[in-house]
Amino acid sequence: MGNPNKAKAESGFMRWVDDRFPATQMIQEHLTQYYAPKNFNFFYIFGVLAMVVLVNQILTGVWLTMSYNPSAEGAFASVEYIMRDVEFGWLIRYMHSTGATAFFVVIYMHMFRALMYGSYKAPRELIWIFGMTIYLALMAEAFMGYLLPWGQMSYWGAQVIISLFSAIPVIGGDLTQWIRGDFLISGITLNRFFALHVVALPIVILALVVLHIIALHEVGSNNPDGVNIKAKKDETGKPLDGIPFHPYYTVKDLVGIAIFLFVFAVVIFYFPEGGGYFLEKPNFEPANPLVTPDHIAPVWYFTPFYAILRAITFSLFGLDAKFLGVLFMGGAIAVLFVLPWLDRSPVLSIRYKGWMSKVALAVFAISFIILGILGALPTTAARTVVAQICTALYFAFFLLMPIYTRLEKTKPVPERVTG
Ligand code: HEM
Repeated sequence: MGNPNKAKAESGFMRWVDDRFPATQMIQEHLTQYYAPKNFNFFYIFGVLAMVVLVNQILTGVWLTMSYNPSAEGAFASVEYIMRDVEFGWLIRYMHSTGATAFFVVIYMHMFRALMYGSYKAPRELIWIFGMTIYLALMAEAFMGYLLPWGQMSYWGAQVIISLFSAIPVIGGDLTQWIRGDFLISGITLNRFFALHVVALPIVILALVVLHIIALHEVGSNNPDGVNIKAKKDETGKPLDGIPFHPYYTVKDLVGIAIFLFVFAVVIFYFPEGGGYFLEKPNFEPANPLVTPDHIAPVWYFTPFYAILRAITFSLFGLDAKFLGVLFMGGAIAVLFVLPWLDRSPVLSIRYKGWMSKVALAVFAISFIILGILGALPTTAARTVVAQICTALYFAFFLLMPIYTRLEKTKPVPERVTG
């Protein structure tokens, strides 16, 4: 039965399964015979942690949905009900809301690792593109989720972001109304965000994660040296610098997962609101369309892009400042998609790139963090100037990359991985 070349168990129940479903074959391909580089470091734990957080978000999300009421009249009260009356409701909610923050911490570390070790470069462009699409979907997922508690910041945060679409010439007004489903953010908007947050986007994200991993296992993992481990194989065809993912990395990852869960638990039990950065203070008041909060700021993981939006205070080429801000903000994310084609370096890892790439990456990371801080604060003239400088540095990292990666002198890459 089936393809005779497929790996199958000798006998017993597994054989029965294998004759009907390629279980043994899949376990071998993705675990016991998947050779991962032996020099993975700290930064390689975040992929697996992203999976752990994704599962956490889905499970706690399903349980929240059991008691949540997606209506303008009932949403806020139902969240209070979950926090006070549902058994362990507070824990489930904090696992979910803090989980959103954890997701972005993990994803930013995961992406930074890719930037350091050139994991986006050929032949891993598709892993990167799928990853970027996950990132986009994740941002949409988090944004829509934030409307659901129907607090002041839910309402006004969504108001600010949705109204950005109105800056688009010609179609802006109609588009904004189409997104809201109403003339203002209302229960209708809440209902559609709920449907997208709970059903549509999780399916999209899960499907993308599957594509991400299939692409990864097709080409194989990169590593901190950026050395292609498939280039040197032993007589049986196994990479000399590779070790089977299972049991080596499954066990190693369990240690990382345990440490992560420990930190996660400490945050959930002791700092679930993150000082107003994970759950913002105005969100403890019900949404009121007639009262605007003093200071509207998105949750921390969006603030770098929000700072870029606000940094554009001038008009250019006949485009007004608001629309230009939207273009810059969109461009800041869009440019990441083409990163694999901007990097012209002959080497992958930052370890063997020249000083220009090292300085560029450091300046980029610092600018991103400064933008993140500025995006959480009210604007002042001085802060706007700093945000403009950091925005320029953010884009310079990408737009000058084809130049500095070709100009600089790289170090020789070893044939085998180091340590
Ligand atoms: C739900 C979100 C995500 C999950 C569950 C996920 C999962 C994983 C896993 C398990 C790996 C292999 C282990 C590792 O290299 O750390 C991986 C590798 C990778 N991911 Fe993700 N990922 C996610 C999002 C992203 C995003 C947003 C990006 C970038 C935009 C990205 C880019 C990459 C790249 C380039 C690799 C290959 C790394 C290498 O071989 O050096 N991923 N991902």
